Amino acid sequence: MNKLECQDICKSFSVDDESLSVLENINITISENDRVAITGKSGAGKSTLLHIMAGLDQATSGKIIFNDQSLSLISNSSLSKIRLVNFGFVYQFHHLLDDLTVEENIQIPLLLNNSLDKDKKIKIKEIMQILGIFNRKNHLPWKLSGGEKQRTAIARALINNPKFLFLDEPTGNLDKENATIIQNLLFELSDRYGIALITATHDNEFIKSFKQVYRLFESKLGELNE
Ligand SMILES: Nc1ncnc2c1ncn2[C@@H]1O[C@H](COP(=O)(O)OP(=O)(O)O)[C@@H](O)[C@H]1O
Ligand SMILES: [Mg+2]
Repeated sequence: MNKLECQDICKSFSVDDESLSVLENINITISENDRVAITGKSGAGKSTLLHIMAGLDQATSGKIIFNDQSLSLISNSSLSKIRLVNFGFVYQFHHLLDDLTVEENIQIPLLLNNSLDKDKKIKIKEIMQILGIFNRKNHLPWKLSGGEKQRTAIARALINNPKFLFLDEPTGNLDKENATIIQNLLFELSDRYGIALITATHDNEFIKSFKQVYRLFESKLGELNE
């Protein structure tokens, strides 16, 4: 069973010669199939924590352990490989490449590890159908609605079959109807492919559907029990 652990993660930024402490002694373990929401007000450190957990940023101190391997002790290229195969990341502002079609955007992670073959092309089709963007496959991102862009970003994050999917405010820029569609799709995909969801969100409707909810407050992470 895949497992991702944060051990005593601290993060501070230096701003104008002063140190700004954003995360203090964060401990959390996420296993395959877990669904975790991380909430907290704007500026609380949600994005910072997600980036560190996903190996996109370095902690000031503490360890990220993926399946008993410390991500801070390995080379950048090994880290990239682990990330590419095991982690998917959906950014708040989706970060699609403007000059590529929906289908080409989804292909990017496969091109990065040279694994775009016949089976993967079938998988791309399947995932576009599940996410309701198949009829948009030849369109450039500017032609898509906000919800369709977000669904394309989710498809791209899932195409390498990651076991951990990080989502930074995935419903933050969507209307209620599209937010509900994304929310339902994420749970359906998590069930179908056995993916852990680690979601930063302050969308109260969305938070309600998670069993494990944590809150960042004054740089500390606490579990919110119902
Ligand atoms: N690269 C950076 N340099 C300096 N300060 C940063 C940087 N990234 C984030 N911060 C600060 O860290 C705090 C947490 O930011 P963030 O993780 O984006 O919060 P959230 O996602 O909860 O809104 C904020 O005060 C933000 O200004
Ligand atoms: Mg954020």
